Amino acid sequence: MSAKKIQIDYEVYSDISELGAEDAALLKAAREITAQAYAPYSHFRVGAAARTEKGVVTGTNQENASYPVGICAERALLSTASSIFPGLALETIAVSYHNENGTSNSPVSPCGMCRQALLEYESRGGKPLRIIMSGQKGEVIVLKSVADLLPFAFSEKELK
Ligand code: THU
Repeated sequence: MSAKKIQIDYEVYSDISELGAEDAALLKAAREITAQAYAPYSHFRVGAAARTEKGVVTGTNQENASYPVGICAERALLSTASSIFPGLALETIAVSYHNENGTSNSPVSPCGMCRQALLEYESRGGKPLRIIMSGQKGEVIVLKSVADLLPFAFSEKELK
């Protein structure tokens, strides 16, 4: 037996003003696009914005009266990016949310399904996909790669 440990590095900023200009602009876009979410059931509006060499691509969560039909902001963004620019690498994705309690001040973290989708998108792009996570205000967390969100991941490599 050998015991092993997984460690991840991440950065914590006390607010958006500590970010570089490009990351701050991306997070601002993610925060603002939450207004476009269709979330009449959860009232939890999520916005995602990704920087690419073709410009910024955005996504929001889109719910449905048949609840499982809804799609998260991150996967809406990935579907849009892949449909308009197939194979286009995303450099950085920022994710934010807005809830109705006025407490959108701690970082949001992608759900498990989105982590799986982000991981495969990163793999297709062939370079690390950074992720910026935050609420409408307050702390910002930055990871160098979405792979860090999903240790022991199942991936397309397993299928070969
Ligand atoms: N949601 C996202 O859009 N992204 C996530 O990473 C977590 C959850 C959405 C799904 C649903 O519309 C609402 O937030 C509440 O779960």
